[in-house]
Parts: sequence; C-alpha cells; structure tokens
Amino acid sequence: MFYPLIRQALFRLNPELAHDLTFKQLRIISGTPFERLIHQSTTGRSVKCMGLSFKNPLGLAAGLDKNGECIDAFAAMGFGFIEIGTVTPLPQAGNEKPRMFRLLEAEGIINRMGFNNLGVDHLVENVKKARFDGVLGINIGKNKNTPVEQGKDDYLICMDKIYPYAGYIAINISSPNTPGLRALQYGDALDDLLSAIKNKQNALEVRHHKYVPIVVKIAPDLSEAELIQVADSLIRHNIDGVIATNTTLDRSLVQGLKYADEVGGMSGRPVQLRSTEIIRRLAKELQGKLPIIGVGGIDSLLAAREKIAAGSSLVQIYSGFIYKGPSLIKQIVNHL
Ligand SMILES: Cc1cc2nc3c(=O)[nH]c(=O)nc-3n(C[C@H](O)[C@H](O)[C@H](O)COP(=O)(O)O)c2cc1C
Repeated sequence: MFYPLIRQALFRLNPELAHDLTFKQLRIISGTPFERLIHQSTTGRSVKCMGLSFKNPLGLAAGLDKNGECIDAFAAMGFGFIEIGTVTPLPQAGNEKPRMFRLLEAEGIINRMGFNNLGVDHLVENVKKARFDGVLGINIGKNKNTPVEQGKDDYLICMDKIYPYAGYIAINISSPNTPGLRALQYGDALDDLLSAIKNKQNALEVRHHKYVPIVVKIAPDLSEAELIQVADSLIRHNIDGVIATNTTLDRSLVQGLKYADEVGGMSGRPVQLRSTEIIRRLAKELQGKLPIIGVGGIDSLLAAREKIAAGSSLVQIYSGFIYKGPSLIKQIVNHL
C-alpha cells in the first residue's frame, strides 16, 4: 500500500544505499509488533518439489539477502521460499562502489557487486536465529582470491558448514562478477565440480541423516550447444534441480539507456524473454528429469505464468520486487 511512496524516496538514493537503509529498517522491525506493517496474508497453494514442501511457488532470488539478515521479514511478506547468499567461505568486500545501477526506463538493474558478503560462518549464525520454518535455500560461491582451479574446495567448505541448516543448496557458477566463475559451467570443469559436490552431498547425508537437494544456477548467456551439455551433466550427476537464470551480459535491449554500458550482469525486465527462452530449451533437454526454478525479469502475474508455462516448477523474483514492491508477491502468489 505504501510502496509507491517508499519507492519514490528510496529511488532518490543510490541503489546500494537504498538497499542498506531498507535492510536496517527490516532488521529493526523484525520480530517486533511492527512486523505487522510488512506482513501479507496470501492464499497460495503449496508445491512439492525435490522432496520438499514449498508454502507457495514464489521465492526470493539470491543476492538480495546475501548474509541471511532478514529471513523472517521476507517470510512475513509472503514468499513461499527464500534463497539467501551468495555466500563464500571467507568474508569479502566485493567490487569497488558504485556497483549497482538502475535502468529506470527498462525496469532493469545492472550489478557488479562481486559477492560482497560476511562469510559463511556469519550467515550460519543468522540462519540459526531465524524463526522461518519454510524452505530456505542457501546459495554458495567461491572467494575472489581462490584460483578457479581450486574453486571446487570453496563450494565444499560452504557445503560442510551450511548442510544442517539448508532446505536446498544452490551452486552459483553463473555470476558474471567473479573472474573465471562462469568457466565452471563448461565441459570437464563442470563434471569435476558436480562429481565432487555429489560425493560431498552423499557423505553429509550420512553424517546428518538428512538429504539436502543440490541445485545449480546457470547463466542466460549459454549457447544452444552449451545448454545441451549443461543439461546432460546435470542429469548424469543426479543433480536435484536447476535455477535458470542469473543475470545477462547482453545489452542489446537497453542500448542508449543511461547506465546501459556499465560492466556487470543485467536483471529485470530486459532479461525476461531471454531467461524464459532458456527455461523452455532446458525443459526440452531435461524431459522432466529435474525441476527448474525459473527466474529472470518476473514483474507481474503474467510473467510468472510464462515462466511456469515454459517449464518451471517454482519461480523467484529480485528486480521486479525492487520495482513493484511487496504487493507483487501477493499478486503472484494468490493467482499462480
Ligand atoms: C544486485 C543483484 C545482486 C545479485 N546477487 C546475486 C548473488 O549473489 N547470487 C546469485 O545467484 N544471484 C544474484 N543475483 C541474480 C538474481 O538472483 C537473479 O537470478 C537475477 O537478478 C534475475 O532475476 P530478476 O530479473 O528477478 O532480478 C543478483 C541480482 C541483483 C540485481
């Protein structure tokens, strides 16, 4: 109800300051009677996927709550599941500021945050404090200073620490802002990584008497041949699900707009069609063997329906939530 006014004020600030101020407010009201101000009742149906029960099919995408600081606040807004991270083994500052830009006319965002986060130990402490009883995805990545050849170790370190607390674990190999990370999406590097992750999952299942599904998050910039290879690897390694997609490097739809030439990954409406197309092609390759979590430019009920029609079992939002506010959650959840 108040979001148009709040947005007007927040959009006068630079995007990262607006983010930090909002998080500060959310942390203050979370768990107090003021949480009612952000609470939304929804009538969404629950969805069974990867052996988990999701309160409704709409989730918060990774990157907004990198440290798991506001899990309960986002749950109060009506999300069916929440993905926190990307988190890395060690804390890191990320890239130099400014590193996030609004493409207002296109309702897009370009970011080159570079996995700024407080490290996996800090995230785990936040998760332990949260009251949320729905599905919590934890998205993991590698530290910038870890050479790509040893990147695998960073994922395994994070898995060890988060396994008991995660509903599912998302392997982020598709951020364009960590040099070399996307190379893990291809050929032997991908096979090697997935095989190590699967072995780790098996060992952790025995240790914790709990099976935590593994999903892999992919970029929207894969060619047809690359997409076929990725799908084949995911099936061969018995990965539990796939998130499509992360942000794009392509700028063809935003040429000439302010900030369009900033380096980084672009999200929001300009990635909507591209990500839906990737989901459609992926669904064809996967033949229902693994579920798809669809994300990229969802800014309306219709856009969410298109992702489901293309083959997604669940959907997530980030940029649409920034532009449209919490009412978008209700709009989607109540009618999807
Ligand atoms: C500022 C910003 C930071 C992001 N950080 C992450 C991240 O840390 N890990 C990740 O997997 N995706 C990250 N994403 C990508 C989103 O999770 C999502 O895949 C992408 O933005 C497309 O969805 P959208 O159009 O709804 O924003 C980030 C997106 C934005 C805009």
